[in-house]
Amino acid sequence: MTTLGTPLSPNATRVMLLGAGELGKEVLIALQRLGVETIAVDRYEHAPGHQVAHHARTLQMSDPAQLKALIEAERPLLVVPEIEAIATPVLQELEAAGLVRVVPTARAARLTMDREGIRRLAAETLRVPTSPYAFCDSLAELQAAIDGVDGHGIGYPCIVKPVMSSSGKGQSRIDGPADVRKAWDCAMAGGRVSHGRVIVEGFIDFDYEITLLTVRALDSAGDIRTRFCEPIGHLQVGGDYVESWQPHPMHPSALARAQDIALAVTGNLGIGHDGQPGGLGLFGVELFVKGEDVWFSEVSPRPHDTGMVTMATQWQNEFELHARAILGLPVDATLRSPGASAVIYGGVDAKGIVFDGVAEALAQPGVDIRLFGKPESFVKRRMGVALAHAADVATARRVAKAAAGKVRPRA
Ligand SMILES: Nc1ncnc2c1ncn2[C@@H]1O[C@H](COP(=O)(O)OP(=O)(O)OP(=O)(O)O)[C@@H](O)[C@H]1O
Ligand SMILES: [Mg+2]
Repeated sequence: MTTLGTPLSPNATRVMLLGAGELGKEVLIALQRLGVETIAVDRYEHAPGHQVAHHARTLQMSDPAQLKALIEAERPLLVVPEIEAIATPVLQELEAAGLVRVVPTARAARLTMDREGIRRLAAETLRVPTSPYAFCDSLAELQAAIDGVDGHGIGYPCIVKPVMSSSGKGQSRIDGPADVRKAWDCAMAGGRVSHGRVIVEGFIDFDYEITLLTVRALDSAGDIRTRFCEPIGHLQVGGDYVESWQPHPMHPSALARAQDIALAVTGNLGIGHDGQPGGLGLFGVELFVKGEDVWFSEVSPRPHDTGMVTMATQWQNEFELHARAILGLPVDATLRSPGASAVIYGGVDAKGIVFDGVAEALAQPGVDIRLFGKPESFVKRRMGVALAHAADVATARRVAKAAAGKVRPRA
């Protein structure tokens, strides 16, 4: 049974978000609505989530000493990672010591922190279908993995990604031998920490890709039950999402396979240091689909950027689902209306930008907008999102894209 307290009082229910970007901001708002006392942490000041939390902290979450000192000082009930680049061994240590509960588990944060932990878990332990892959620490190893022995390598085309990166950074496609060095150099320049380690994946020629939002929440008997949202279709450009929509139609057997994979992966990530499957929360399971075949790509043990569409399409959006699930509250993952989202990029490199055209964008029926309030804009930085609900997905996509296009950021 969950008892919630009063914020800023001795019986407050206190939750710490590690990462306070646009996704964390919405989780914080959902928590605020339940009277939870919130602590938002990010590496720079005035991050989106800082602006809506009771307490804002600025520090390097990848620094074990800083992270440990903060959690020990604040002693929140829950620690909710919103980004991957966190000193996850500290989370494991503090969770094992019973000092804090990490969402969904410290183990999940550790395994999804880089591409290797989660890929080996999915492909080698759980044996769900993935692209063929290899991990390489040098250009020579990369070439050898592609060539293989007797032509049984990854082959062409393939994709190279730094093991620690997101949003398509450092990621490139290799179509033939001439591209290999370029892809290696690109990965070395784009990785989060220069480990010099990459994954090379065989290219999956999928019909479409989806995010299957999967929620582990308590049912009325107090048992963990897994629920699935309707599949979210999305369009990626250069490894970064530009548009998403829900529901994405699927062949029933492809949907069943997708749900089986999501259940296996999230079920395992829900197992904590104690070996018990106690982890709660929402996951974004990324899958490739071709006909009735489904491949697991990766998973976020937290709300997913393509899931922002649920702010227009579900009774409880992905952030509300996450907030409720982690507090042990019941959830409803059902669809309310078809809808779509379209990203609003900064378009300029500048601080403190302004946005023209918001009124025109909102004048369209069914449109809503989020501007994240990021203090600094870059040309390719996601600064906001346009949302639309409509009678069908095609209309919603058209309306959301048009609305995003009407918002004009400038210095
Ligand atoms: N093996 C593959 N075959 C075909 N396309 C792929 C493959 N791997 C990645 N992609 C494409 O590149 C996109 C980004 O890849 P991935 O999700 O692994 O990277 P990411 O940097 O973590 O992206 P994000 O953080 O936006 O999820 C995928 O959504 C897909 O469109
Ligand atoms: Mg991805």
